[in-house]
Amino acid sequence: MHVLHVVGARPNFMKAAPVIRALNQRKQIRQSLVHTGQHYDANMSDVFFSQLDMPAPDVNLEVGSGSHARQTAEIMTRFEPVLLERRPDIVLVYGDVNSTVAAALVCSKLLIRVGHVEAGLRSFDPTMPEEINRIVTDRLANFLFTPSEDGDENLQREGVEPGKIFRVGNVMIDSLIRLLPATMRCPEKGFPERFALVTLHRPSNVDDSATLKSILDSLLKVSEGLDVIFPVHPRTRQRISQFGTEAAKLHLRDPLPYIEFLALQRRATVVITDSGGIQEETTYLGVPCLTLRSNTERPVTVTVGTNTLIGSDNKKLYSELSNILGGKAKSGTIPPLWDGHAGERIAEILCQLYTKSKDRGTAVV
Ligand code: UD1
Repeated sequence: MHVLHVVGARPNFMKAAPVIRALNQRKQIRQSLVHTGQHYDANMSDVFFSQLDMPAPDVNLEVGSGSHARQTAEIMTRFEPVLLERRPDIVLVYGDVNSTVAAALVCSKLLIRVGHVEAGLRSFDPTMPEEINRIVTDRLANFLFTPSEDGDENLQREGVEPGKIFRVGNVMIDSLIRLLPATMRCPEKGFPERFALVTLHRPSNVDDSATLKSILDSLLKVSEGLDVIFPVHPRTRQRISQFGTEAAKLHLRDPLPYIEFLALQRRATVVITDSGGIQEETTYLGVPCLTLRSNTERPVTVTVGTNTLIGSDNKKLYSELSNILGGKAKSGTIPPLWDGHAGERIAEILCQLYTKSKDRGTAVV
């Protein structure tokens, strides 16, 4: 069976790596990897491939940046001939980025089976581009691999046949568990004893100058009592310089490689973020996470884990922070199936489907 993976943006890489690794152990599987080029800076892409020990992509579509329509359309246009030439039995797409939905659309028109890894997550916020990507991808996918029970519930409520839904756990946590020992090699010295680790890149937080300024002001205030380490996403870096927003007193760094960022997360007193994946990683690591969003597509990180939604309420940010610094951080547990074996479960399911289809002499159903 030929499995073709599509990745494009930074958060895709740590999700695909464990699935590729697990499928590599199966003799009956042939794999190929397409990088759309949605993320193209070395520190947003190449370094992740090497640290995650991923094979080099067989094809890079080199689409680069653009508006949503342009980027999505460009991926579709360039991916179609690749699919026609390679004709995989199944395409696996990951997460909720533009590359995910673009690839799923092309596959479904060519009647090529799609598996969505990280299916079923919903923020119920239609203003988030990722929510549109999640809904459309799940609607088109033939196999929906969910990380948690809420994913199954969302899909069933939307009318997805239960037989297409497979709860496999969290593939991102597979990569975290595998590379956690490597973070021990990152030298302790150089880190402040207590610090807040910050990431910020959601359009709703960084694309409006007043909102971005308010967040940066609140971070400056936080930095009066606690070191703030802030690896800045290119989108946010651009907005900061475009809006001329004062962030000089914050410790701005370039985006970090995966292992170095994990090392910081493990040691952080608190993580302040608007990322999706970091809500999950902090829950696994037991590190308090304050999320600068009013909703999350990963509710299990709030109900079971260490995550607290702050929205745009600066007062809540300061009061939660003072609880954490006062030793009253929210404690959490690790959700079921976030155990380092999600990729293997996906590989097992795909192999079973393949065996069944071979016995029946049909395409992978
Ligand atoms: C994308 C995903 C988002 C994910 C995030 C992780 C969508 C809709 N959004 O957002 O879900 O959380 O990736 O990082 O798919 N840029 C560079 N170098 C790069 C990539 C981007 O400089 O390697 C700059 C470009 O100016 C670009 C901007 O960052 O216009 C935004 O990149 P884009 O891929 O459009 O979206 P992200 O904000 O990265």
